[in-house]
Amino acid sequence: MNQIPRLLWAAVMLSAACAAHAEDLLPSKNAGPYVPSPQSVVTDMLKLAEPGPGDFVIDLGSGDGRIVLTAAKVFGARGFGVEIKDDLVTLANEAALKEGIADRVKFLKQDLFKTDISQATILTMYLLPDTVNLLREKLLKELRPGTRILSHDYPLTGWVPEKYVHMDLEDKVQISGVTTTLIYLYIVPARIEGTWTARLPSLSTRPVTIELKQRLTQISGSARIEGRSVQLEEARLRGDRISFKLAGRKGEYSGQVKGGAIDGTVDTGTARKGSWSASLGR
Ligand SMILES: C[S@@+](CC[C@H](N)C(=O)[O-])C[C@H]1O[C@@H](n2cnc3c(N)ncnc32)[C@H](O)[C@@H]1O
Repeated sequence: MNQIPRLLWAAVMLSAACAAHAEDLLPSKNAGPYVPSPQSVVTDMLKLAEPGPGDFVIDLGSGDGRIVLTAAKVFGARGFGVEIKDDLVTLANEAALKEGIADRVKFLKQDLFKTDISQATILTMYLLPDTVNLLREKLLKELRPGTRILSHDYPLTGWVPEKYVHMDLEDKVQISGVTTTLIYLYIVPARIEGTWTARLPSLSTRPVTIELKQRLTQISGSARIEGRSVQLEEARLRGDRISFKLAGRKGEYSGQVKGGAIDGTVDTGTARKGSWSASLGR
């Protein structure tokens, strides 16, 4: 079977299990049945997001807590999981106590759709494909730029992942009927669309207008420099980091977006980097 039919089959299996457990579920929407990520995939999945002690991991629909527990035990992170099944919440909190990490992780009986996720620096989910996409606007609205999102098996439609890993695991056959495991890593982009007034001292003594267009992580635009329109080339946005070149001009611009401001440096190939800045008029 090629990959797409296999994935559709996996979604059907997950949906079927979902119907079987429907009577256990009380919240606004059943986001998926209890199907744990195989432990063999959890560490590798987390590694994609490069977690560390400074990270705060939130797992939406945390099951027995294995993702947040592993993030704390193996990578030293903190975090919480939300889950609607009482017994799983109890199990996860007991495991945290047993592992001596209850001061860093906790599990709450809570509807994931009503959970404040703004504290996350890494957000994980293993949920039904339609749920993953229902959550898209919430993720973009509540998560800070640069937050890493890991989705097990199902993508966020229309959002180009930062990384994508395909593994074949025997453990998965019991869960979804196939060995296929897909992990998607997304990075929440800063919002940069609009008209910026930039100071590019290496190019002009006057303010420069930059028009930026954005579709999630994909950006494009042009600058108006001394009456001429200059296209942005190799324009990239990764979290709150932006970079671009100006067609026909020397220099590679990179900077950090902080709300309506950008502070950055321009590398013109000389030993000393210049600085540039911009503010958003939207
Ligand atoms: C596929 S399991 C994933 C468990 C865990 N994240 C893992 O990867 O091992 C999905 C979990 O989401 C929970 N769930 C479903 N709908 C939910 C909701 N609305 N709020 C919170 N949890 C929910 C289910 O009870 C189930 O334990």
